[in-house]
Amino acid sequence: MTVIPPVLAIDGPSGSGKGTVSRAVAKALGWHFLDSGAIYRSLAFAAIQSGLNLDDESSLADLALVMELVFTADDPPKVMLNGVNIADEIGTETVGNAASCVAQLKVVRQALLKKQLSFRVLPGLVADGRDMGSVVFQDAPFKVFLTASAEVRAKRRLKQLKDKGHDVNLSGLIVEIEQRDRRDRDRAESPLVRAEGAVLIDSSDLPIDEVIRRVMSVVEPVLG
Ligand code: C5P
Repeated sequence: MTVIPPVLAIDGPSGSGKGTVSRAVAKALGWHFLDSGAIYRSLAFAAIQSGLNLDDESSLADLALVMELVFTADDPPKVMLNGVNIADEIGTETVGNAASCVAQLKVVRQALLKKQLSFRVLPGLVADGRDMGSVVFQDAPFKVFLTASAEVRAKRRLKQLKDKGHDVNLSGLIVEIEQRDRRDRDRAESPLVRAEGAVLIDSSDLPIDEVIRRVMSVVEPVLG
């Protein structure tokens, strides 16, 4: 008998707390973890390094197919692009914005699909992204849509980036986050939407532990 590994899809806009929550829930469940945003960020980073235009569909799709990308299980995880750890480099707003440009392209999304599907292995997968529940793992038995107000998300991002030593200011970040949200929501291919059946959690006024508890409560009654 073939057992299909269960998936918990956690989608939402940037800064909604998806990354922290998804990692914590994956750890608690003992499941694998997919940071799909890091795949788009890695492609954007590789494209910038190669001097590609971010709307050059065929070159980007080719790059997506040849780039060798490995996530390690270290804490924090390493993101190895062709053997080099680029975890710090892909964490910037510049790379995040470039990622949301390349992520608009259908051929790019198709080229990156297989990589994402390969993470679905037993005992299960927590998948963090924009289209995990709506497209990539449409059949996921567990779906969450995590959101928060743009201001709260910008403040969280500000703290994260400052902690990493980046020089950023709040008003600039709010503008960038709203721009990126619009690009992710309004695109034709796999736009950011709340998938059918996804449990909505607004984390604006919730401490992280409470968000983790609510996400766990989506899975626990079924897993027992
Ligand atoms: O989540 P993160 O901020 O790392 O994602 C960077 C960008 O990658 C997003 O703004 C989005 O445009 C794109 N992305 C996507 N689909 C995913 C994950 C990320 O289009 N599943």
